[in-house]
Formats: sequence, structure tokens, C-alpha cells
Amino acid sequence: MPLAEFLEALESTATDAVQAFNDANSNETLETARVEFLGAKNGRLKTVQKQMGTVENDNKKTAGQKLNETKQQIQSAFEDAKNRLTGGTGVIRDPNFDATLPGRLFRVGRLHPITQTIEELKDIMGRLGFTTAGGPEIEDQFHNFNALNIPESHPARDPLDNFYIRVAEQTTDSDDNLMLLRSQTSTVQIRVMENTPPPVRIISLGRVYRPDTADATHYPMFHQMEGLWVDTNVTLADLKTVLQLFATNYLGGSVPVRIRPSFFPFTEPSVEADYFWDGRWVEFGGAGVVDPNVLKAVGYDPEKVSGFAFGLGVERLCMIRHQIKDIRDLFTNEVRFLHQF
Ligand code: DAH
Repeated sequence: MPLAEFLEALESTATDAVQAFNDANSNETLETARVEFLGAKNGRLKTVQKQMGTVENDNKKTAGQKLNETKQQIQSAFEDAKNRLTGGTGVIRDPNFDATLPGRLFRVGRLHPITQTIEELKDIMGRLGFTTAGGPEIEDQFHNFNALNIPESHPARDPLDNFYIRVAEQTTDSDDNLMLLRSQTSTVQIRVMENTPPPVRIISLGRVYRPDTADATHYPMFHQMEGLWVDTNVTLADLKTVLQLFATNYLGGSVPVRIRPSFFPFTEPSVEADYFWDGRWVEFGGAGVVDPNVLKAVGYDPEKVSGFAFGLGVERLCMIRHQIKDIRDLFTNEVRFLHQF
């Protein structure tokens, strides 16, 4: 092939290629053009290249130089088109995408199942007239024990059952003043009554801590819902009604509730509350009539007011509802697990 003809073939291939890449307006058209001009087997550039063998030897050098230039020219036209279509992101925009259309809500995150449960419990108890109160997670022994009628010698104070901590302000070495990560939300009963004259009707939802080894049903941190209702004439019958309404609302349908005698230092009488769920009785917490000593500790007059209190495990309520078998799943924070709720 004469040199002139070879150069002309290169020239027209380049012109057509640049034109095609400039015109490309989608992933598909760009790819079609790439295959047509730069295709490794039958691309047009390749076809011209194959004819170089027929150019006279004296002209081969010139032909080769021009071939390389053309190749670069076409390649860079292709790169330009790609950048133009991807806006530098490497992802080609859909030509059908219309940024002016109204958006649709796309949920990328969600509330943790425990948070969802807490919100629902607040909602149900709110409808029964209970407002939400809170208290610190780092507590003193007065609020975690003394005011709740738990004597110095009581096993509930055992260092093996509590996370005692020495805080910076504590100057004495005496263990009497040690703070602790609260072991129960009953602390909030005391904090509320100290600051509010009766009547009170509150719930408190929050974390509590106990040095338990983690297994399918235990975790060193978990959540409780504490409830307290004090007024002039509150009885155990009111407690049972509230627990019944709560269970029916949370679990749906008519869920039988039963109370069994038990013991807690801060209630007299004390009960354990169970509900009948999935063919068996499930314990959902402790409760009772507030002990007069507790009322006295906060300056209430036990002759004038009475009340009931309860403390339920939030994890258990959440797990029963969603058929979660292992409490640890709630805190591993594996996204694929959390995504289900
Ligand atoms: N604080 C108790 C616990 O953590 C639960 C409890 C029992 C709370 C009886 C109460 C109550 O308010 O009256 O095991």
C-alpha cells in the first residue's frame, strides 16, 4: 500500500473516532464507539494497523510514527469522553436521571431495636398517665441502696455483684463513699421523690450494670423500665391493673398476667410479675407496694400517701416480641442483624 493511502486511512479513522467519542452521551454509546475504533480484534484502528506490512520498507518509519500519534489521539478522545460522562467520578450518569423530579425518602439508618422498644414503652405508659424521668448512671450508695431500704449488710451490696468505682473527688479511702454504676433504675424513684411532692406517676428507662458473665440471657449492661405511682390511695390492685394494661398493649391481645409473692427491700408486699406468652409463663420483673421506710427516706408521710413500684427488663420485652434468642445479638451491633428491625 502506498504511504499516502495509509496515512489517509489513519486520518479518516481519527476524524471519525473523535467525532464518535464527542457524540457519545451514555455508557452504551461510548462503549460502542470504543469497540468500533479501539477494539483489539476488529477495531478500525487495528484494521489499518494490519495494513502497515504492505507499506514499502522505506516508508515504514513514517507510517509507524503516524500510527502511534493517531492511536494516542483516539485514546485521549476516548478518555475525554469518559471523564465528561462520569464527571470525574468514574460512574457514568444515567441520561434518564432527572434531578428536578421530587425525591423519595430512602432510609439509610434506623433506630436500634432497644431504642425502638424504649420509645414504644414510653408511648404506652404515657397513655396511662406516666411521665418519663431520668437519673445518673454513676450513682452514690445512698440512692442505689440506703434510701431503698437496703441495709449495710445486704448481699445486694456485694462488690462481686456491683461495679464500684472511686471517683476523683473522693479523698477518703473508706469504701463507704464509693460510687457505683447503678445496678437498678429504682434509684430514680428516690431522685424523683426527693425533688417532687406527691402525687408522682413516673417511669424511668435506662441502663443498669452488673458484673455478670455474658451468655444468651445475661449481659453486664442491660436496660430496665422502672415505674412508680404514689398518691393518696394507691394499692396492689392498681399495680395489677397497670401491669395488665401494659402487657395487653405491648404484646397485643389479652395477655394473662399473674403476680407471685416475692421479696424486695424497698417494697412490702413484694411480688414477681409474669405474663403468659407463647404457651408459658414468662417473668417480666419485680414489683410491689412501696415500703414505708422508702417513703420516709424521701420525706413523704406514709400515713398520708401510698404507692406501687415496678422494675421490668427491657431486653426481655424486646427479645420476646422479636423472637431474639440471644441477648448478645443486641449489643454486637452487627448491621445485618440490626437491619431486620
Ligand atoms: N430493682 C429490682 C431489680 O433490679 C426490680 C424491682 C423490683 C423494681 C420491685 C421495683 C420493685 O421498683 O418494686 O431487680
